[in-house]
Amino acid sequence: MEALRITGGRPLHGAVAISGAKNAALPAMCASILTAESVLLHNLPAVRDVATMAEVLRFLGAEVERESGGRCALRLERLTNPRTPYRLVKTMRASVLTLGPLLARFGEAEVSLPGGCAIGSRPIDLHIEALRQMGAEIALEHGFVHARCRRLRGAEITFDQVTVTGTENVMMAAALAEGTTVLINAAREPEIVDLAELLIKMGARISGAGSDTLRIEGVSALHAAEHRIIPDRIEAGTYLIAGLISGGQVRVEQVSPPHLSALIDKLREIGVEPRSGEDWAETGAHSKLQAADLRTAPYPGFPTDLQAQFMALMTQAHGTSVITETIFENRFMHAAELRRMGARITTEGRRAVVQGPTPLSSAKLMATDLRASASLVLAGLVAEGETIVDRVYHLDRGYADMVGKLQQLGAAVTRTRV
Ligand code: EPZ
Repeated sequence: MEALRITGGRPLHGAVAISGAKNAALPAMCASILTAESVLLHNLPAVRDVATMAEVLRFLGAEVERESGGRCALRLERLTNPRTPYRLVKTMRASVLTLGPLLARFGEAEVSLPGGCAIGSRPIDLHIEALRQMGAEIALEHGFVHARCRRLRGAEITFDQVTVTGTENVMMAAALAEGTTVLINAAREPEIVDLAELLIKMGARISGAGSDTLRIEGVSALHAAEHRIIPDRIEAGTYLIAGLISGGQVRVEQVSPPHLSALIDKLREIGVEPRSGEDWAETGAHSKLQAADLRTAPYPGFPTDLQAQFMALMTQAHGTSVITETIFENRFMHAAELRRMGARITTEGRRAVVQGPTPLSSAKLMATDLRASASLVLAGLVAEGETIVDRVYHLDRGYADMVGKLQQLGAAVTRTRV
């Protein structure tokens, strides 16, 4: 098993280039299912989930040519098989994003149900209900979603819970449906806006992206397009926090500062003076970190994908922080590992209480999910001694070259086998 070996106590300094957003790349790759022509994407991050999505699309019959520098040409001329298999969906839940596009273009889809994961049950009932409202006949059998439809038709759909990939599935399905679809209580994430921009370049008629109400007028066919994926706001936030927790100062470059506003506001609240420009952001100097409460929420609220990283930071802040995780029911797996390093954290349901500052001691840790592993790496940067973070494949799913980027900032971190 591969692991990261981190020797703590070295403040990080310098600038790091942020990669394209994993959670924008994955739906964009699935959007290529909607046309027989070629879709050319730029700035795809070199992360495992993008490789997995390429495998999912090839399994359907697509040609996927990844070139250096994050360029990727995708083309699904003919569907050779409508199936997205369990072994791929259980590896990466985002594979369910093939459901809407397959139904919209080919009238059929067989997608394995995702099953739960470390952070929660994560059903796709809202996706399925919405597609049924658009006329799809959907049966759930033997762990698969069997969906059929001669042609989807527009509908007025209300999500009773904000769902990011649910919004993306409906937007892609509605792009080729008969008539107009109105989606109420849609997700507003920058990744949704990015997907809408790609679909519009492909000929889709979409308005309201970034608001909580989307309006999509179906068209008969979509065509080739070229698109650059937005920067990864979660990767950017992770490195800003790495600078702070290590007592250094880090600048993230090739980012979109407006996408970081919830984190930047929170950093001001804990006594840090962040600065930002056109395409960069950095944490200013800070005397000492103040504790602050946190409540995750759908965009533009504080992202759940930065909650674990912020919890690690609050172990070094003066005072008590109450962290409330409103999106997932089990996203405090990192707390137990942080406690093994000496952190004073108690959790109860969706609420965690962190007391600080607490010196952390190195330990052998085990990662459980993508963002929890990032928080353990951050804790390793400040812990006395050598920390080992095992099961580093979790990190590889969503962070491109984390070891190289951290080394470039002065961290003592290497990849090792344990
Ligand atoms: C997306 O997951 C992201 N993944 C997640 O990032 C992110 O944490 C999440 O949105 C929330 O922002 C991608 O974009 C590929 P949801 P998604 O549907 O779409 C419940 C990472 O670390 N729900 O917005 O799967 C669900 O259980 C990953 O990069 C239903 O009940 O999340 C959850 O509690 C982790 N029924 C809440 O809604 C449904 O049909 C939000 O889930 C759909 C969702």
